[in-house]
Amino acid sequence: MLELLETPALLLDLERLDSNIRRMRNKLAPFNVTLRPHVKTHKSLEVTERLFADGRGPITVSTLREADFFFAAGFTDILYGVGIAPNKFAHAARLIEQGAALKLVLDNLDSARLLADFARANGAVFEVLLEVDCDGHRSGIPPHSPLLVEIARLLQGSGVTVSGVMTHAGNSYDSRSIGEIEAYARQERAAVVDAARLLEEAGFALSIISIGSTPTALFTQDLSGITEVRAGVFAFFDLVMAGLGVCQVQDIAVSVLTTVIGHQPEKGWTIVDAGWMALSRDRGTAKQAVDQGYGIVCDLAGQPIGDLIVTAANQEHGIIVSRSGSLDPASALPVGTQLRILPNHACATSAQHGGYHVLTEGRRLGYWSRIAGW
Ligand SMILES: Cc1ncc(COP(=O)(O)O)c(C=O)c1O
Repeated sequence: MLELLETPALLLDLERLDSNIRRMRNKLAPFNVTLRPHVKTHKSLEVTERLFADGRGPITVSTLREADFFFAAGFTDILYGVGIAPNKFAHAARLIEQGAALKLVLDNLDSARLLADFARANGAVFEVLLEVDCDGHRSGIPPHSPLLVEIARLLQGSGVTVSGVMTHAGNSYDSRSIGEIEAYARQERAAVVDAARLLEEAGFALSIISIGSTPTALFTQDLSGITEVRAGVFAFFDLVMAGLGVCQVQDIAVSVLTTVIGHQPEKGWTIVDAGWMALSRDRGTAKQAVDQGYGIVCDLAGQPIGDLIVTAANQEHGIIVSRSGSLDPASALPVGTQLRILPNHACATSAQHGGYHVLTEGRRLGYWSRIAGW
């Protein structure tokens, strides 16, 4: 069946997807928290439905386009996890008017003032989470900053309610050991719990204390004071997560199907028809202990072949080499051979494709489309 697909094509292994979802659900089960999965990795209705055993639970989105799409499909409790820009206020207000329990994120007085002005001028209501910086990764308010209360006070009476705090332990992706991931998880929890305490002591009642990154979610030991966990890439996993020790290479659920189109024997190169347009430019493993180039090369069954990696990528050409030079590419991989490339970063590679050819037990089950854009 796979032999009939025109390449490059994105494959999704259903057994691996389901097993990854089970692992996250089992990990969180002993804690009193809700999973609010981040749909930005897969941007697929079918994958999102598989994330919830029953019904349509709360989700995190990375674009209002995703919010529109998933709201239309019946997901109402939606956290837009990127700081809100003024040009999106009207779009967010529209979704809320239509019945979405949409939550916005902000981390500064200017955004708060602009949103409050918009709410007053338009008679709109918004629910926001204040973003807390737990590790210096990018945005957010330091957990002990008086700014948290200042923003909450500024919003009072404007139609904008602060219903919680959220943070994302992005620096956990740079961990060099599981011990470091565990430390980031402790830091992530402490940051939002401390920030929430500050706001509650100032008289603000919060219902959402939200954390989440795949590494910290899978290795946390304490979620006291936390109401929900957002995680995204766990559903697919990728080589960056495998390099961190968060998953095994065999857990990675997405791969790019490609075909050998030629060789440069004197250089030890095999040329395939998947370049960076199919694999993405992401080189996330470059800073890890083992640099996987543009991805690990597998056979049609999804098993890595020796020490083959995609070492370079042009727009539509990928160059495969054996790291040790031990494999003779021309005889091992004749023209026409189909291969599967495991991605560095599942979100980035998936974003290069319109959808997934879904496999179950190695057979093609169907095609699940993805949404794109903003
Ligand atoms: C705000 C926010 N929440 C949650 C996540 C999920 O992180 P991960 O994909 O590591 O699970 C991300 C990822 O970028 C994020 O930006």
